[in-house]
Amino acid sequence: MNWEQEKERLSVKYKPGTWRYYVHLWARVIKSWYHKSPAFSVRIEGARNYVPYIPPGCKIQIFGQDNTVKIDPSVTTFMGLIRMGDPDIPVRGCTVKVGSRSSCGGANIMLYEDNSAVYVGDECMLSFGIEIWASDSHSIIDSKNKQLVNWGKEIVIGNHVWIGMRSILLKNSYIADDCMVGAGSVVAGKFKEPHCILAGNPARVVKKGFSWDSLRPIQYREKVSIQTR
Ligand SMILES: CC(C)(COP(=O)(O)OP(=O)(O)OC[C@H]1O[C@@H](n2cnc3c(N)ncnc32)[C@H](O)[C@@H]1OP(=O)(O)O)[C@@H](O)C(=O)NCCC(=O)NCCS
Repeated sequence: MNWEQEKERLSVKYKPGTWRYYVHLWARVIKSWYHKSPAFSVRIEGARNYVPYIPPGCKIQIFGQDNTVKIDPSVTTFMGLIRMGDPDIPVRGCTVKVGSRSSCGGANIMLYEDNSAVYVGDECMLSFGIEIWASDSHSIIDSKNKQLVNWGKEIVIGNHVWIGMRSILLKNSYIADDCMVGAGSVVAGKFKEPHCILAGNPARVVKKGFSWDSLRPIQYREKVSIQTR
C-alpha cells in the first residue's frame, strides 16, 4: 500500500486532523497488516502440501495432503482466497497454478474434490468479486440409476484472459487464450476458440476476433497514435 496516496485519498473524504480522518487511517493500517500477515491469511493442515510462494493479499487454506498451490513469483497482486477442502472433509492431489504476470483484484478459488485443479495462464487479469469453483461441492444424482452426475475435474483459464468483475466460473470450464469474460457472466462449459468475448448467464460467445489491453482506453489510443506517428 502506498501510504502517501492512501492519506491523500482519505483527506479528500475526511478533513485531515479530524477524529474521522485518524479513525479511518488506523483502520487502513490494521487492514493492511491483516492482509500482509501470514498468521491470518495462511492455514495449511496436512502432509506434503506444497506452496512455494504466496503474494501479499492472497489467503490460502488447505486441508488435506499432496496439494499444490504454485503461483509464479512474478505475480505481485493476487487478492482473494484459495481454498482446498475443509477441516471435516480434507482433499488430496488438488492443484492451483497461476502463470507469470497474472493479477487478481479479488477471487474465491475453491476446490472440494480430490485431484481437481484450477489453472490460470500467463498475463491474465482477473477483476474483483470473482468465484471460481472447481466442483459444485454438493451432489446431483440421476433419479433413475442413482449415479452421480456432477463430477468436477478442472477449470482452465488460458493465457492473456481478462475475467470481468463479479463473474462466476463453474466446474470443468475452459477459456481459450486471449478471451474476455463480460461482467457478471456465468461460465459453464468449454470455450476453445481464442480471441473471443464471452458474456451472459450462461456465457456465450458474443464477439469473435478481438483482443484486449490492460491500458485505459484513453492511454491505449495515445499509445497507438504515438506508434503510428
Ligand atoms: C464484455 C465487454 C468487455 C464487452 O464490451 P464491448 O466489446 O464493447 O461489447 P458490446 O457492448 O458491443 O456488447 C456486445 C454484446 O454483448 C452483450 N454484453 C456485453 N457485456 C455483457 C455482459 N457483461 N453480460 C451480458 N451481455 C453482455 C451486449 O448486450 C451486446 O449484445 P447484443 O450484440 O445482443 O447487442 C463489456 O460489456 C464488459 O462486460 N466489461 C466488463 C468490464 C469489467 O469487468 N471491468 C472491471 C475492471 S477489471
